Formats: sequence, structure tokens, C-alpha cells
Amino acid sequence: MSDTEAESSLRIYNFIHADLKDAFAEDVRRGLASAPKQLPPKYFYDELGSQLFEAICLLPEYYLTRAETEIFSRYADEMVGEAMGEASTKEVTLLEMGSGSAQKTRLVLDALIKRRNALHYIPVDISLAALKKSARLLLAAYPPPTLLRVTAYASDYNTALAHLHKNHNERGRTLALFLGSNIGNFNPIEAESFLQSLRAILRERDCLLVGADLKKERKALEAAYDDSIGLTSAFNLNLLNRINRELDADFNVRLFRHVALYNEAEGCVEIYLESERAQRVALRGLNTEVDFAAGERTHTENSYKYDTSELATLAARTGFEVKRTWFDDKQQFSSSLFVAV
Ligand code: AVJ
Repeated sequence: MSDTEAESSLRIYNFIHADLKDAFAEDVRRGLASAPKQLPPKYFYDELGSQLFEAICLLPEYYLTRAETEIFSRYADEMVGEAMGEASTKEVTLLEMGSGSAQKTRLVLDALIKRRNALHYIPVDISLAALKKSARLLLAAYPPPTLLRVTAYASDYNTALAHLHKNHNERGRTLALFLGSNIGNFNPIEAESFLQSLRAILRERDCLLVGADLKKERKALEAAYDDSIGLTSAFNLNLLNRINRELDADFNVRLFRHVALYNEAEGCVEIYLESERAQRVALRGLNTEVDFAAGERTHTENSYKYDTSELATLAARTGFEVKRTWFDDKQQFSSSLFVAV
């Protein structure tokens, strides 16, 4: 079930209230009952969590957003040129998975607007607040006569993809965006199945722009995920606040600490909440109690790092070909144009 909120050029599908509340309870129940304990990272993004992530993007240690913005500022015209080729001037669809504040998206929109008359932007994000704000800001930034309409999905990826699959035929040439190292939250198997589902709603020659963080020295990676002013720690710990609020739990957040470690063998920064002592937590909303041992870690996020050969393999296994990859000056981050084949 979904509510929709419609203005002339903005439609919002809200799948959050209906589906996500139950999913959250179920995922927390299952995650805290498993060994080792784990919680899915998509639940970081409540209102505070979304804002904390925005703030993380401004941290000196968190180079990812700056590097990707540098790439887009410099190469967006080239990227869009390669993606769209000589295609006609019919309405183009820009589909973005995990759009967040959609700030980098503007650089792509600008490049598209230079070439086209009409644009259909379809952002998908787990945060309704972030989605509403970014959609309104975008529509205000591109007033008529720019032909921009926005169909926003407040939803997890799978729910939105399932819905988009149904209205498959209504879309013209599509450029999909999966930016900011959002792909890093998936392990290699999950990344493959996600890209396969995304490929299934695209047609041949449609494109996907993937932003992937690159493998690098441990020191830079661990600093990016354990910053000196504690924003990433707050972002991680805020998940416990959310569980307290939404599932009537009594986590003492002060008795947990943020841990970020680069697992070099896996090519992945792993993020945990570590219990500082043995403790029992009541989750009244779930009618259950959970014991934590001293030093026990609950895994809350993976952030996989890539190299170009891994990206090529991923593309080949999911029905794409890498047409081209762009890098920032320091070669910290990559933006790859995948073409559906
Ligand atoms: C939003 C998944 C891209 O993994 O870099 C940032 C989330 N977590 N700092 C990332 C995050 C801690 C971020 N992504």
C-alpha cells in the first residue's frame, strides 16, 4: 500500500509508513537474535540520521563526496554525452537510487537540460524527509520553462524497483544513478543481485552511472569512517536512539561505542556498535530482551571498496558493460558509466 502526494510536477509515493515500520521491527528482532548480532544500515536514515549523514559529507576525513563532486563538476557533460549519444529529444528519465540530498544530481541535470527539452527525475530514497526537501528544492531550482517533473519514491530499493517494473513501458531513454558509494553497502553477492534487478527495469543502451569508492591505504579509510569530531560515531549510535524510540527499547547509548575497521581481505570497512560492558536491553515493542557481552560487537554497516577490474566483473555479471570510468585528481573515487547490453 502507498499514499501518494501530488502536485502538478511532483508526485511522491510513500511506501515507508506502510511497509517499513513492520520491516524495521522484524529486522531488529532477527538481527539482534543472530550470532554475530547485526542491524541493516538502511535504518540509519531517520530524520537525525539523514542530517548526520549530510554533515559527514562535509567532514575533512570523508573525502568521498568531495571527490565525486569534483568528478561531476569536471565531467558531467562528457558523462551525459556518452550516456545519451545522439538519442532523440524525447523525455529522458533520470532514475536515482538513494538520492539523499540530490546535490550531485544537479550537475547531471544541468548537463541533461543543455541537451533535452523534457526530463523525468525519479529519486528513490529511504528518507521521506530528505526526499521531500530535495524534490522541492530541485523543482524550485529548475522552474518552467524547464520541463522537469519529479516522481519520488520514499521506499527501500526493492519496493521501488518492483513498482517501477510494472510501469516499465512508460519510460523513455533512462539514465540511472547509483552514486556516493551507496553500492558499498552491499557485499559482492548482494551488489550483483541488486544490479540485476536494476538492469531488469532498463532497456538495452540505457545507462547506469555507478559511484564506487576505491581501495586505498587503511589509514585514510579508517579515518573516513571514524572521524575526529565524532560525527560518524553519532550517526552509528543514533540507530540505538531510533530503536529506543520506535520499538520502545531501553538501550543506554552511552554504554556502546562506535568501531570502524578496514577488513583488507574483504576490501571493506566494517562498522560496529561495541557494548562496553555486559548488559541486558529490553525491547518492549518486540516483547523481548537481548543480552550483550562486554566487548560484543553488533555489525551495523559494510562499506565495500572497489578497483576497476572488480567493477568490470560486476558489470559483466549483471548485464552491463563499462563504457568509461572517470576519476578525481587524487584517484580516490570512481564514476563508471555502465551500459545495458
Ligand atoms: C551512504 C553508504 C555511501 O558507506 O560511505 C558514511 C554511509 N557510513 N559514514 C558510506 C556512511 C558511515 C556511506 N554510504
